[in-house]
Amino acid sequence: MASTHGPADTPEQRPTLTHRQRTAPAPESDTAVAPATRDDPERKPPYLDLDRLEARARALLPADVFGYYAGGAETETTLAEAADAWQEWRLRPRVLRGIAAAQLGTTLLGSEVATPIGVAPWAYQGMAHPDGERATAAGAAAAGALMTVSTSANSSLEDVAASAPAAPSWFQLYRLHSPGHTDDLARRAGDAGYRALVLTVDLPLLGRRRRDLASDFVLPAGLRLANHPLVTDEQPRLQAMETPTWTFDEIGRFADVSGLPVVVKGVLRGDDATSCVEAGASAVWVSTHGGRQVDPAVSSAYALPEVVESVGDEVEVYADGGIRHGSDVLVALALGARAVFLGRPTVWGLATGGADGVASVITGLSAELAHTMVLCGLPDVATVPRDTVVRAR
Ligand code: GLV
Repeated sequence: MASTHGPADTPEQRPTLTHRQRTAPAPESDTAVAPATRDDPERKPPYLDLDRLEARARALLPADVFGYYAGGAETETTLAEAADAWQEWRLRPRVLRGIAAAQLGTTLLGSEVATPIGVAPWAYQGMAHPDGERATAAGAAAAGALMTVSTSANSSLEDVAASAPAAPSWFQLYRLHSPGHTDDLARRAGDAGYRALVLTVDLPLLGRRRRDLASDFVLPAGLRLANHPLVTDEQPRLQAMETPTWTFDEIGRFADVSGLPVVVKGVLRGDDATSCVEAGASAVWVSTHGGRQVDPAVSSAYALPEVVESVGDEVEVYADGGIRHGSDVLVALALGARAVFLGRPTVWGLATGGADGVASVITGLSAELAHTMVLCGLPDVATVPRDTVVRAR
C-alpha cells in the first residue's frame, strides 16, 4: 500500500498528536483528542507506517502463514482495489470553527468505546503470536476499541472474553459441524458476555484463495480450533464453514438463540441490507471479507453509500476493507458508517508486537483520525456531515 499523504519519517517532522490509551471507556469529556505540545509527557511517536509493519510481519512469519493473512481470492482484484477506493473521495474542510480537539468516543449498539476503529474478526491468531486472540483482546481494550472475536479462534470464546473482561466485544459466528453445535456456540457467546453476534453471511462457499492452494495451507500443528468441539489437536485441518443453505431467516433465529443483537457482516447491496433489517438485524456491516470471497467484488467504499441510503436511518452501519489512514476512517464516517474495523493492520500489529502492537495500530490510526478531524473543523465522530466528502473526480 502506498502512503499517499503520510508525513516524512523523521522525528522532527512527525506530527505531534497523541491518543491516550485506556482500559475502560472514559466519560465523554475525557475522550476528545487534542494536539499534544512538544513537551507533553504522553507524546508518543505517532507516525503509523503500516507498510513497514507489514514488511516486519512478513519477515517474522512463515511464508504460508503470511500468505494466508495477506492473500485474497482469485485474481485478488477486490483486495488490490480496497484501499484505493477510499482514496477516491476528497475531504471538504470547514474553517474557523474553533475546533481544537476531536471527540473520538462513541457507542456501538449501546456499548461505549473510545474510538470508532475496531478489530475485525480474523481467524487463527495463534499463528501470528503465541497469545493469539487473548493478546488482541488485551490490545484492543488498551486502546478502548471494540474487538470482534472469530469463531475460528485458537482460544475459546470464554478465554478471550476473560482476557479483557471490562471491554465490550462481539462474537463472530460461523457454522460448525451441525446446526446444534452452531446454536450452542451462539448461546455460549451470550453467556460469556459478548455484546453482539456478528453473522458472517458472505461465505456460502469458501473463496478460492490461490496463495493457500499453492502453499497447501493448513493450520500449524499444535494450534487448536478452540471453538470447534469435534476438532482435535491431531486433526487440525481447516474445517468447512460454508453456509450455502442460510437465508435471511437465520438472522432472527440466531438473535433468539443467543439473546444478542445480530450484526450482519458481508453486505454489499442496499436491497440486501433492507432485507437484513426486515429480518431482525440490529446493524449491517459492509465488507468484502478482506477480498477473500467474491473477486472481483465492489469495494466497501463504493457499497457503503448505497447501504447507508437503504438502512442508515434505521440501524448502525459499519465498514471494513482497505482502511489504512485516519482520513479513510473520516471518509467512511462521512459516508454514514458509525465505525470501521481493521483486519490486516491488526494482524501485522499482533505479529510484530503482541497486545502492544495491536494497541499501537489502533491508537496510531485514531490519532491520525483526530488530527484530520481538527484540520477539517469537525468536533465529533458521531456528527460528521455527509457533505464532508466529495468524489475526487
Ligand atoms: C476466514 O474467515 C478466512 O477468511 O479465512
